[in-house]
Amino acid sequence: MNRDLQTEFLTLHEFAAAARQRLDDNGWDYIIGGAETETTVKRNRQALDAIALRPRVLRDVSAIDCTAMLFGKPARLPVLLAPVGGLETCDPDGAVAAARGAGSFGIPVMTSSVSKRSKAEIRAATASPALFQLYVRGGGRFIEDHVEAAIAAGLEAFCLTVDTAHYSRRERDIANRFDKPWRAGVDAAARQNQARLSWADVARIRKAYDIPLILKGIATPEDARIAVDHGVEVIYVSNHGGRQLDHGLGAMDALPEIVAAVAGRATIIVDGGISRGTDIVKAIALGADAVGIGRLYCYALATAGPDGIVRMLEILEDEVTAALGLLGVTCLADLNPSYLHHGAPVVSTPSALSVFPLLGPEDDGR
Ligand code: FNR
Repeated sequence: MNRDLQTEFLTLHEFAAAARQRLDDNGWDYIIGGAETETTVKRNRQALDAIALRPRVLRDVSAIDCTAMLFGKPARLPVLLAPVGGLETCDPDGAVAAARGAGSFGIPVMTSSVSKRSKAEIRAATASPALFQLYVRGGGRFIEDHVEAAIAAGLEAFCLTVDTAHYSRRERDIANRFDKPWRAGVDAAARQNQARLSWADVARIRKAYDIPLILKGIATPEDARIAVDHGVEVIYVSNHGGRQLDHGLGAMDALPEIVAAVAGRATIIVDGGISRGTDIVKAIALGADAVGIGRLYCYALATAGPDGIVRMLEILEDEVTAALGLLGVTCLADLNPSYLHHGAPVVSTPSALSVFPLLGPEDDGR
């Protein structure tokens, strides 16, 4: 790419503004939208915004380390690219482009089974951990076939998304009459398989294979406990970015109880509204090992492909570094809940884009 992204993009909101220009209404609404009233989308932001930071001063913060160990490898940030279906909306190379961006920067990527790119192509696109996320749309050995293919391709972990037993009603897409090309072929039988998924399937898969198992879409301590009792290695706390059940709790409000229930017996990932360095710091201070980002990397991918993802992550890294230094800590392991104050006044009306106050009205929504 000939563009100099280091000078072209200096803040995160510039990616959101550029993506709004690049995408048509269908693509933009598909990415930023949520289910029905979009209350869960807004609560994801509200839960983050209601946490204030408690800085400690007069400590030597001249050397800051934002790295983490994720899936057995060093990661430049405690961040992974969350699974996103229909990434071709953002870049013709879709999931492969996302994997390239994650790999060039040095963080894990989780690829959605909605992507038609093969597991081998994803593996070839990144030397950082590559994780595969499955929607269970077939019966018989459907799950087993995907797990075996993930192991054969050398992927680091396998994920079942468990918050999608039914399709939700995303009103932006419905109102736009947007026929998602990647939903073609998902018939009633496929949906029934997704709706039937149960703990018995988790038990069967956990018993049969060694690959680390991630359950994405855990929202309560009750289910986190059941998952850990089943030997699940990674609890992925998520409400699907507010795209599934409407009127859920903000992910950051669900996290502390889940951290307590898991009690160190599993790795914890959380996502939902993460758009700033301070968001990452808050999640780690609450006990998460890593955060997922969804919409934020879609903006960067739609704007400038894999290089856009790298530039977006560089800015996020600068924000995390600043936040840690100003909090008085030099590494992520030093964070804990004492750096957080809950119940702080929320100063802007929460929405998917409310973290970017410099966005103009023409960039907001439609
Ligand atoms: C998603 N998400 C998602 N999750 C999943 O398990 N499989 C999938 O195929 C998709 N597809 C998808 C498409 C789009 C456009 C978005 C925005 C999200 C949910 C995603 O993995 C993640 O949980 C949320 O995006 C996190 O919230 P933020 O970061 O987007 O606010």
